[in-house]
Amino acid sequence: MANKFYLTTPLYYVNDVPHIGHAYTTIAADVLARYKRGQGFDVHFLTGTDEHGQKVWKAAEAQGKKPQQFVDEIVGRFQSAWRTLGITYDDFIRTTEPRHEQTVQKIFKKLLQQGDIYKGEYEGWYCVPCETFWAEGELTEDTEERKLCPDCGRVTDLLKEETYYFKLSNYQTKLEDYLKANPDFVQPQSRWNEVFQFVKQGLKDLSITRTAFPWGVAVPDDPKHVVYVWFDALINYISAIGYLQDEAKFKKWWPADVHLMGKEIVRFHAVTWPCMLMALGIDLPKKIFGHGWWTVEGKKMSKSKGNVVDPLALAKEYGVDVVRYFILREVPFGVDGDFSMKSFINRYNADLANDLGNLLSRILTMIEKYFQGIIPTSKKAHLDAQEQTLQALIDHLPDGVGKALDKLAFSDALEGIWAVIVNSNIYIEKTAPWSLAKKGETDRLAFVLGKLVKAIEVVAKELAPFMPETSKRIMAQLNLGGEKVAKGEPLFPRIQVS
Ligand code: MSP
Repeated sequence: MANKFYLTTPLYYVNDVPHIGHAYTTIAADVLARYKRGQGFDVHFLTGTDEHGQKVWKAAEAQGKKPQQFVDEIVGRFQSAWRTLGITYDDFIRTTEPRHEQTVQKIFKKLLQQGDIYKGEYEGWYCVPCETFWAEGELTEDTEERKLCPDCGRVTDLLKEETYYFKLSNYQTKLEDYLKANPDFVQPQSRWNEVFQFVKQGLKDLSITRTAFPWGVAVPDDPKHVVYVWFDALINYISAIGYLQDEAKFKKWWPADVHLMGKEIVRFHAVTWPCMLMALGIDLPKKIFGHGWWTVEGKKMSKSKGNVVDPLALAKEYGVDVVRYFILREVPFGVDGDFSMKSFINRYNADLANDLGNLLSRILTMIEKYFQGIIPTSKKAHLDAQEQTLQALIDHLPDGVGKALDKLAFSDALEGIWAVIVNSNIYIEKTAPWSLAKKGETDRLAFVLGKLVKAIEVVAKELAPFMPETSKRIMAQLNLGGEKVAKGEPLFPRIQVS
């Protein structure tokens, strides 16, 4: 049986409009999923929407809609965005689906019975936009003495309600030991450090039900409580693969190979979630990766600032693959990045139009001109230094891309691919095929063009998970199985900048 690979994105809050931040995680996951499939893995790629909680409930209220009707109407925005961006997820889970709600209830009951959940009273602060409980000492106080969320800076609410608690404190030592024994569990390393520091300070029991509003999974036998949206949503990673419903399926996929997410929700995934799994007596995911955040022209992206970048608009204007390329190339995964139209266009013109687009078009033009469109073959016993460099880059590329992707170093993988592209262009300059043609050095000319075809072929192959359409277009123009190359439209027509 093929090796399995199970990867997930966060479940996005359904009331938001899919933006470049959501697209970032989802495209990264898609690249990994496509790559692993190409390597023969049996892949399960899960994404979906987080549909409960006070924030979604408020948004529905504001529109005078029943929450279920509200979420049903808008979930399609995410599904169609992902379709447009070429996302090949295997499953899309909504937290309002019975398969999920039932599992949440079963888990709740089990943990209650075994004493990991108990009833009490909560008094403290809550940030609705972040759906996060905060302790007094964690809050930021502004001049008017209002208590602000340390994450998003908005005003928090003071809550006082009956609640069920999850005994997080029971698992502090176990989790600390686990982290120590598994320094790669949370990546990048800096996130591991943050998580470890946080756990070392001590874990307080977590309030996991709310009574102030009615939108969530009902607590079994106590329906005035709904399950706290994070406790509910994290369970998706196992409910979607059949935990307590379809044990064979669950056994096949769990543990997840990687949970991908933005850095702001690493704590939920690397502290709360592992403790929940420990309480349930099941393995922890193999890896939690918290990538960096995108700002826009130096500013935090927000609806109120009106600077939210719409990946669909970009894809419509410049092409899906350009968006996929840009966001994974511009900054190393794990580090914060800034989006600006200027850098987007720069990358388009420099990397795509110039480096890649021109390379293909030059190769095909010369094959048409000098060999009537038939890809020449010719062997040469000794490679000069230039050719050795290019050959080494070609030979090592598949391995290099694989190693980079194993570390989720998407930008490194792309840099490796571009090293072949850039070197091929240099090789053209150095060998000057047009003067070889003039001098009648046909064998040498054939060798050079043959080598360039090999280079662009490996580029197309390795680029496939990142830029699936571009890869296909390159292969179609090379037309390797056919008689002649089929030069087509330029891959990336240059954008004029005024
Ligand atoms: N619903 C929770 C997650 C539950 S997972 C069990 C949630 N949803 S969210 O809609 O706010 O999505 C957060 C995720 O969107 C981040 O973790 C990240 O993957 C992505 N991003 C949202 N904004 C982002 C940026 N500005 N930059 C990069 N990624 C960001 O949290």
